[in-house]
Amino acid sequence: MRKPFVAGNWKMNTDSHSSVSLARDVAAGMSEIAGHKIDVAVIPPFVYLQSVARTLSASSIAVGAQDVYTEQQGAFTGEISGSMLKDIGCTYALCGHSERRHVIGETDELINKKVSAAISGGLLPILCVGELLEQRKTEVTKEVVTRQIRAGLAGLGDEKVSAVTVAYEPVWAIGTGLTATTKQAQEAHRLIRKLLSEMYDEQLADDIRILYGGSVKPDNAAELMGQQDVDGLLVGGASLDADDFVAIVKGAV
Ligand code: PGA
Repeated sequence: MRKPFVAGNWKMNTDSHSSVSLARDVAAGMSEIAGHKIDVAVIPPFVYLQSVARTLSASSIAVGAQDVYTEQQGAFTGEISGSMLKDIGCTYALCGHSERRHVIGETDELINKKVSAAISGGLLPILCVGELLEQRKTEVTKEVVTRQIRAGLAGLGDEKVSAVTVAYEPVWAIGTGLTATTKQAQEAHRLIRKLLSEMYDEQLADDIRILYGGSVKPDNAAELMGQQDVDGLLVGGASLDADDFVAIVKGAV
């Protein structure tokens, strides 16, 4: 059985004070679901990772990074490596979030290197995939997501792939208030799992968690989680409000 996983991507939000108080409030809220089998993570901006990790050190909440570089150390001004992130207490790293693909311009090839480097650095990568509105309208969602998964996981053997979580986030649903219907989410997740079973073995495909992301809110979390292949949620905007995020986690247990 796949253990549910809810992660809150804070994006480029919070400051040195509010990041710590948000983390503290989320941790306090988690006491209500103590004993439930669920993984929870928060994903703050790089500069607040260490103080948030310290704040959460006595809790079961993990910390993740929003990005990771392709190398572990060296002359790469401005970049942050997987081993550095591991060193300060990070467990996860997002790779290929839609804002990095479509705003920053990251390619599938670069994202693949980041997934691999995250694993080498001791992190668990969350590979984000998802189609643009135009691509959904022109019915190429399957092709787009298939390409992103195949390219994103290229060269990774069974052992490495078992460290990966996939996040399906239709770009048109991110930060827009539009959520994929449960049917659309389940269809995409099923497609991804089927693809994984073609690329790897059935058991591995069955074990990999696939999160849904895109305008997840307290009132749609439980319904999304009710879908067979939706194993967790990647939450953006609503993760900046401790009450909303805790309510989403509760909806996922
Ligand atoms: P959203 O963002 O929940 O604000 O739509 C999701 C994400 O980008 O991970």
